[in-house]
Amino acid sequence: MSADTIPVAIINPDAPAGSLEAKQPHIDNGAERYGKEGYFSRDYAQREWEKVWTQSWLIAGMASDLVKEGDYFLFEIGHESIIVTLTDEGIRAFYNVCSHRGARLLYEERGNKKVFVCPFHSWSFHNNGELRRITDEETFQEQVVAHRPGLTELACENHAGIIFICMADTPPPLQEAIGLPEGYLEGYNIDKMKVVRHVRSEWGANWKVGVEAFYESYHLHAVHPETRGVMGDLNVQYDLYPNGASRMIVPLGQVSPRAHDQLTVNEGLQIMLQDAGIDPDSFEGTAADVRRAIQVSKRERAERLGLDYSKLVDGQLSDSWATGIFPNVQIGCHPEAAFMMRFLPHPTDPERFYYETMTLLLPVEDPDYCPPGWMGLPEGTDVTGKTRPATEHYTLEEDANLGLVLSQDAAFLPVVQQGMRSRGFKGQLWGEQEQRLRHFHVELERRLAG
Ligand code: FES
Ligand SMILES: [Fe+2]
Repeated sequence: MSADTIPVAIINPDAPAGSLEAKQPHIDNGAERYGKEGYFSRDYAQREWEKVWTQSWLIAGMASDLVKEGDYFLFEIGHESIIVTLTDEGIRAFYNVCSHRGARLLYEERGNKKVFVCPFHSWSFHNNGELRRITDEETFQEQVVAHRPGLTELACENHAGIIFICMADTPPPLQEAIGLPEGYLEGYNIDKMKVVRHVRSEWGANWKVGVEAFYESYHLHAVHPETRGVMGDLNVQYDLYPNGASRMIVPLGQVSPRAHDQLTVNEGLQIMLQDAGIDPDSFEGTAADVRRAIQVSKRERAERLGLDYSKLVDGQLSDSWATGIFPNVQIGCHPEAAFMMRFLPHPTDPERFYYETMTLLLPVEDPDYCPPGWMGLPEGTDVTGKTRPATEHYTLEEDANLGLVLSQDAAFLPVVQQGMRSRGFKGQLWGEQEQRLRHFHVELERRLAG
């Protein structure tokens, strides 16, 4: 059977063609098997650095972290550290390096500074990148500093509240590079969401193993069997977009077709009903009615809670639109929250990566409102959005307290990395539930060749 005739789920067959919800037109990515050296080789990682990381728009952080003039955050990628800051001329990005002798300027991950003072010889720079003062300038020959060496700027743009940076000399147009249709991310009000948890943990695998694991729902039944009661893993709609972007719509509040019991409103569904403002004890439907009930209830209470769902269709109120942007991001889009995950390469070791997650929440004034349980926020998390939590850092050996499902992934990914090393393993074989992986690799190969 060819890829376009293999049956894959469609969430809403009545979605108008061309709408965001509609199944996207088929993209033929062939059936090739790729070599596996990309998961181990330093040369390959170096090529990725040159052709992908330094040439792509990358998500550096959230606009909601830059509120007052002088607010800044650092984005660490490979060997680079980048300052993203709100100046009186808007958001700008600079390499975090002093133009004198290359010392790093800023060390704190976030803060507010209108002047950056270098810790080495205290040259200083305005936050718009201009040189402010050279210490003992009279001791420099004029021609050495006559060009007033400021900070090196790089491209930086805000799209839907998400800050992208690009190190390329001539970056491609951002919207086109993202690959998603206009209005896709904008509908979720991510610009109004606040970071309520931020975790950067180190995992023992190549960054692509991370991307791959989160780009399919095929492994849910085996690695995360407890999701069976609440996720329609076999009903997932997979969509491919230009430039390596992709999506899976994971129906939530729905029992997996793999489960024997399709009727009982199990404990997981009860929690989801509760999260949506429905009392599970007085709920009269069966498991098959839960997803729809969640949609109706969320739509009804949106106005009272001050949540704007006007741009979201019913399916978006219940489901996760897990959205991938090439090269290294997946955003779990939900009406009340977003779960942003980035897979960042280790600067030297191709068999490690950083899994960096930001949990974003639309602030709700109602004191009775509880953020949904799926977000897995540790007890005591401030969900008001009033205080920006510090980033939690975890090494390979530490437990990042990411909740059951993500801990299962963290434990399993190094096993996959190890297994791929075997002489007996000849390269991955992807099914159509894994079509996003193929799409990702086709784009990666295209970039590496280009
Ligand atoms: S390296 Fe920054 S002032 Fe010398
Ligand atoms: Fe997983």
